[in-house]
Amino acid sequence: MQISEVHNCDCLEYMRTIPDGFFDLADVDPPYGIGKNWTKDKHSKFYTHKSSYNNDTIPGEEYFKELFRVSKNQIIWGANYFTAFLPARNSWIVWDKKRDYPKQHMAEGELAWTSFNIPLRIAEFRWNGACVCSPRYGKHPHEKPVPLYAWVYKNYAQPGWKIFDSHMGSQSGRIAAYKLGFDYYGCEIDEQCYKDGCERFAWECKGEIIVPSGRIYTQQNLFTKSSNK
Ligand SMILES: C[S@@+](CC[C@H](N)C(=O)[O-])C[C@H]1O[C@@H](n2cnc3c(N)ncnc32)[C@H](O)[C@@H]1O
Repeated sequence: MQISEVHNCDCLEYMRTIPDGFFDLADVDPPYGIGKNWTKDKHSKFYTHKSSYNNDTIPGEEYFKELFRVSKNQIIWGANYFTAFLPARNSWIVWDKKRDYPKQHMAEGELAWTSFNIPLRIAEFRWNGACVCSPRYGKHPHEKPVPLYAWVYKNYAQPGWKIFDSHMGSQSGRIAAYKLGFDYYGCEIDEQCYKDGCERFAWECKGEIIVPSGRIYTQQNLFTKSSNK
């Protein structure tokens, strides 16, 4: 049976419990340390997610040591901010956001370092920011599109691989993995963000809505796995 196992915890603590090389692919998106505390930032009015999420601090050396211990292959988003911890290689991914309205203060793309010995690849997925593009109206300020994760898994993972996502955020990676049939393990430290992500996963992958009484309603006929592929 397909595994989709998630934890509301610090990923470093979780990784310490995992045997060497347990995951086939770690596809991770840690905070970039670019100095935006999204709960205080002027853009926060666009997001329904009000958490303690703070993007000021990047993971330290121990995080990368553990990541390389628990996984056989790695893809690390925002790696241009973490080069001090990574071996020099030329196998990167460029995500071209194809912005409709490029603005000086907004990045037109993002970079990911990969451990794969293949040429640089460019992924083109239009994205004007979660606040503009997300069908859920952007609960998470750094949500990446599900099709981007699906592209990564289709191009870099083999069938049957176990995927690890140390910083799940909105759970876009979990949704892509579920729809493509990969086993997936993820961590998210922020409680509200974790709950929002789980709610999103339940809705987008299983058609489940949790109403205030706590009851779960399911529309299986509309949200089967096959109709979402
Ligand atoms: C850049 S965002 C990830 C966004 C994600 N790629 C998406 O599509 O939504 C980083 C996330 O890591 C979480 N985080 C920060 N430190 C963490 C830690 N030590 N362990 C687990 N999650 C952490 C933050 O709360 C935030 O949701």
